[in-house]
Amino acid sequence: MIKFILTKDYDAMSAEAASIIGAQIVLKPDCVLGLATGSTPVGTYEYLSAGYVKGDLDFSQVTSINLDEFKGLAHDNEHSYYRFMYDNLFKKVNIDINKAFVPDGSIADADLACKKYDEIIASVGCIDLQLLGLGHNGHIGFNEPSDVFPKRTHCVDLAESTISANSIFFSSEEEVPKQAYTMGIQSIMDAKKILLLVSGTDKAAIVKRAFFGDITPRVPASVLQLHHDVTVVGDVAAFSEISHLIWIYKQA
Ligand code: GLP
Repeated sequence: MIKFILTKDYDAMSAEAASIIGAQIVLKPDCVLGLATGSTPVGTYEYLSAGYVKGDLDFSQVTSINLDEFKGLAHDNEHSYYRFMYDNLFKKVNIDINKAFVPDGSIADADLACKKYDEIIASVGCIDLQLLGLGHNGHIGFNEPSDVFPKRTHCVDLAESTISANSIFFSSEEEVPKQAYTMGIQSIMDAKKILLLVSGTDKAAIVKRAFFGDITPRVPASVLQLHHDVTVVGDVAAFSEISHLIWIYKQA
């Protein structure tokens, strides 16, 4: 069952997402959060950090596990997703950095890197809340369109559109790594709750394909139609192609 929460803009989407994640932390202080990178969750992380500064949120018992990392980038690389998480959230809250996991992009042996991350995923237990963004081609994490839904952590060749979308975080498109390690679809689907965020007109077409099109690995996010607890928080622009199809659970 998918709940659609319609928000008026990016800021309202971010506030709503942070209040859902915040509620998860308050209700279960030692929860496991699956976290995402990309430009979409940046505002959410700002609201969560503000919640910590205000004294409303305590991350000290939280475990976090991120979806993906560029292959070839070590955690201390300024373009790594680890660094993104550190700058946008980890350093701003009281999370135990030893319990904030991101795949290790510095491991050159892909099989080893993926095996290690799957061991970490298994060791943290069930993800209570998995935060997701949505790629323009329907990818979640770095699970790119393919012929099958990959189950566990694997190494992917990034699609051209993904490389181009990620180039905003680098000085040029050539600098964007061509491969990444990503949590698999089964690991994402194993989460108890899924929270997917979408903002902007450029996401409107893929939102419609993902939630109202065929369930197919060509549109990886379409698999979420089979999950029992998905909340999609989107702004008016991102929902513009589905507004006539959905029952709005809540407006914010
Ligand atoms: C990136 C990340 C995804 C993210 C997606 C959308 O490539 N690997 O986890 O959800 O693409 O990014 P954005 O939020 O910048 O649109």
